[in-house]
Amino acid sequence: MALMDAILDVQALPLGIAVALGALLLWFIKAYVNDQRRKSSNLPPVPGVPGLPVIGNLLQLKEKKPHKTFAKWAKTYGPIYSIKTGANKMVVLNSNEVAKEAMVTRYSSISTRKLSKALTILTGGKSIVAMSDYDDFYKMAKRLILSSTLGTNAQKRHRGHRDILIENTYNQLHGSLNKNPLQAVNLREVFQSELFSLSLKQTLGKDVESIYVEELGTIFLKKEVLKVLVHDQMEGAIEVDWRDFFPFLKWIPNKSFEYKIQQMDVRRVAVMKALIKEPKECFESGRELNCYLDCLLSEAKTFTEKQILMLSWEAIIESSDTTLVVTEWAMYELAKNPENQDRLYRDIQNVCGPNKVTEENLSQLPYLSAIFHETLRKHSPVPIVPLRYVHEDTELGGYYIPAGTEIAINIYGCNNDKNVWENPEDWKPERFLDGEHDHMELHKTAAFGGGKRVCAGALQAMTISCMTIGRLVQEFEWVLADGEKDNVDTLGLTNQKLHPLQAIIKPRT
Ligand code: HEM
Repeated sequence: MALMDAILDVQALPLGIAVALGALLLWFIKAYVNDQRRKSSNLPPVPGVPGLPVIGNLLQLKEKKPHKTFAKWAKTYGPIYSIKTGANKMVVLNSNEVAKEAMVTRYSSISTRKLSKALTILTGGKSIVAMSDYDDFYKMAKRLILSSTLGTNAQKRHRGHRDILIENTYNQLHGSLNKNPLQAVNLREVFQSELFSLSLKQTLGKDVESIYVEELGTIFLKKEVLKVLVHDQMEGAIEVDWRDFFPFLKWIPNKSFEYKIQQMDVRRVAVMKALIKEPKECFESGRELNCYLDCLLSEAKTFTEKQILMLSWEAIIESSDTTLVVTEWAMYELAKNPENQDRLYRDIQNVCGPNKVTEENLSQLPYLSAIFHETLRKHSPVPIVPLRYVHEDTELGGYYIPAGTEIAINIYGCNNDKNVWENPEDWKPERFLDGEHDHMELHKTAAFGGGKRVCAGALQAMTISCMTIGRLVQEFEWVLADGEKDNVDTLGLTNQKLHPLQAIIKPRT
């Protein structure tokens, strides 16, 4: 009664206290309703990791590598537990079984996304395949990206672009070696630029060296375009707005955060518009370029201009980053472990003899495939699946999961689970040599996700990465530069090596 009186007398209270009281009341009502629903389901609640009042577990997560903290907690609380990030409840999954249950069996109750403020802006409000809910937009866009770019037939049509990528990467490393044989090479610089060129060709039908961006009144060189479309966006995606954790306070402005993210968006949109202009004119004049944009434009009745721009950007950013991450880590591991490198080299010699390794050889090179999958396992480029959101009450691992819960699938945790992987901290490709070799198999680890939302670009990533690793080991012997062995820190959203790999290469005789 006293509480009700206070609420009725709300006008007499300062605004802040009234809001806090209102939030508290809502919280009590929500907790009560949830508890009643759970009791009627007869399932226990998910065990929770103890945290502090109001902020929950936020302070324990502040070191920006949540996948590692999540895996550590799994040792104490088991493969499924709940945490609180401010006012939000999140259930974290750390084993293949519960992850599979969430991605496959219970998918119909967990098929939406809850995006942070930054991601809402940077994905144009869920206007890309990977961040959309499971709706008509998603189904149409996924069908198109597979049929035009990432599916098996489309990948056959784009073979030429991949061959050029491999040849250019080799030639540039060879050029550096000729200039200064004793100087360490920077694989990342060369390979990322080549991946970016491939992504532009597949998406827009042509590569660029520079482009005039009308809306910003300036010319952008290719490396500046890469920065605006890829690097800035990856950085923005992990920006934290404290209001994400306290949605009832979202009315309080956070101007510096909003300005920063909006500027990234404005520049990206301006650059994408400049890139799309010419291929669009080609399409309108009836000349097709065999690219994703053609395909999107022919469905212009279904998509808005903004959606077409965002979907094109998505294909560019996704091609340019994760494949680099896994390939660079694989070359680091091979340079650090000469015995594994020798074994791969001997295999390639046996299969290819004096000829260059080609995509046709991949099915005969199980050790190369094992190196790729072991690197994906140990250095998972997507350590946590973008958060899923439970939109109707469900269950996971025998626990009750109420609607409104966020789900974090910790791929890093699944790929380092001691119950599945012997000595998971070791990099040991041999663990993948048992059983039949199928170089197209995606599910050797949890790295590509699973179920309906399994990675659409897995085939491209596997082919490019395996071909690059194979060719670079066939041509050169790789040794880590001094001091490089302990350079294992990571950065950002995709577990990228913090410092680019520095390796000394020698041509094979
Ligand atoms: C080693 C490289 C890669 C890894 C480890 C990786 C990982 C993943 C993961 C874990 C997901 C699932 C997200 C979820 O379940 O919600 C995903 C989705 C996706 N990936 Fe990849 N990815 C890689 C490369 C690529 C490439 C090269 C492309 C395309 C150019 C791509 C395009 C996509 C798309 C479009 C989705 C969304 C699929 C859907 O929601 O149906 N990925 N990726």
